[in-house]
Amino acid sequence: MAETCDVVIIGAGAAGLSAATRLARAGVSVRVLEARDRVGGRTWTREIDGAMLEIGGQWVSPDQTALLQTLEELGLETYPRYRDGESLYVDRDGVAHRYTGEIFPAGPETEAEIERLVALLHGMSLEVGADEPWAHPRAAEYDAISWREWLRRQSDDETATDVVSLYVAEAMLTKPAHSISLLQALLMAASAGGFEHLVDEGFILDRRVVGGMQQVSERLAAELGDAVRLNAPVRRLERGDDGVVAYADGGIEVRAKRAVVAVPPNLYSRIDFQPPLPRMRHQAHQHVSLGLVIKVHAVYDTPFWREDGLSGTVFAPFETITEVYDNTNHDDPRGTLVGFVSDLAADASFGLGEEAQRQQILEGLARYFGPKALEPRVFYLSDWGSEEWTRGAYAASFDLGGLSRYGALQTQPEGAIHWACSDIAAAGYQHVDGAIRRGWAAADEVLEQLRA
Ligand code: FDA
Repeated sequence: MAETCDVVIIGAGAAGLSAATRLARAGVSVRVLEARDRVGGRTWTREIDGAMLEIGGQWVSPDQTALLQTLEELGLETYPRYRDGESLYVDRDGVAHRYTGEIFPAGPETEAEIERLVALLHGMSLEVGADEPWAHPRAAEYDAISWREWLRRQSDDETATDVVSLYVAEAMLTKPAHSISLLQALLMAASAGGFEHLVDEGFILDRRVVGGMQQVSERLAAELGDAVRLNAPVRRLERGDDGVVAYADGGIEVRAKRAVVAVPPNLYSRIDFQPPLPRMRHQAHQHVSLGLVIKVHAVYDTPFWREDGLSGTVFAPFETITEVYDNTNHDDPRGTLVGFVSDLAADASFGLGEEAQRQQILEGLARYFGPKALEPRVFYLSDWGSEEWTRGAYAASFDLGGLSRYGALQTQPEGAIHWACSDIAAAGYQHVDGAIRRGWAAADEVLEQLRA
């Protein structure tokens, strides 16, 4: 027996649930169909061996006003990331240098070159903007050159270009710098308010949510009650003149006037759209993919690095673990380090096998923080690439040329189908803030259609 409602939403991540609650608050009836046995998608706050860990999205920055507004509405509090003391920059020879401030101690000439490149990219990112980067007069040109190659052409200082490259490639899109375009890099920077913000970890990784980011989705879902169905992967979505029909596991069949597909674009092809989507969309979906990063958690009895005057922050562009931060939970006497192993290094790390992988990562942390780092109480490596309903981390980006060719199509409705997720956001692209913004935007499109 088919259920009927005004709008069916596919995916109960921050985007789908933001769309659903906005619609429900406007008096529209909704059903949310979620493939997993939990809500939250790429936000996932888990208790592992007695430690509360953020396996997915966690940080909030001051410009993420949609997320901040949502946190306030849901009664969720935030706390600042610990960052007192000196940070470490690990140079090309593996030597760790202590420093404070934003620019790494890479030598005066290289530092000046980094600053010059950052200023140049900041200006370019603001000029291209996050809303319609494909509409910029030089979009096709910027999309035809790799981020790596463009940087190389700007400077002979390899360390400067490697460092600047990291801010977008390893740290954000989590793909090798040769596989993403300059245009995609500028979108990433513009979506965060400009390149200068990407460089400023004090800004971009400012605060965390007390009790965990997944609560955003959990609380939104609680507001929707029975309208959210878990363990309900949508397999088929039909659309016609009088609306849509979604078919999910468990014999679920939902008829609605409109649908919001709130899953990352790399998973669109898991749904059998009938009639098939137009040719251009099928093409577009084959040029967008998720990056890959391992989020490493190591929990210790105390945050021992602080006694040594260290903030826990490490930048190591030439090492396996390229970034490390103090990720100690609010009001927790234990100390937690979080590290990131990105793209090619992630492939190599998984290739080692579990024991050797653990050893390699802990030895890496020990080189930054001393032998105490070798013996965590809790150790956990995220494996988002193996998650059937995500398949990578953090989010999706186009291959070379894809953004200028297909970008404009991403948010355009297809008949009664609307699209939402952080991967197609402008401001907040790839972040929880962008997921919420796209959720709200899709809901507003739907409301306009329903009222027409
Ligand atoms: P999301 O992927 O969360 O939701 C999609 C939902 O659809 C999922 O629940 C999925 O199960 C479901 N689904 C898929 N196919 C389906 C189908 N056929 N039928 C039904 N359901 C289906 N962001 C940030 O702001 N700060 C941060 O610090 C970080 N850090 C970070 C670390 C790591 C390791 C990851 C993986 C990600 C981040 N992010 C982040 C990114 C952030 O978590 C992400 O952009 C948003 O949570 C995405 O929310 P969406 O709702 O757009 O997609």
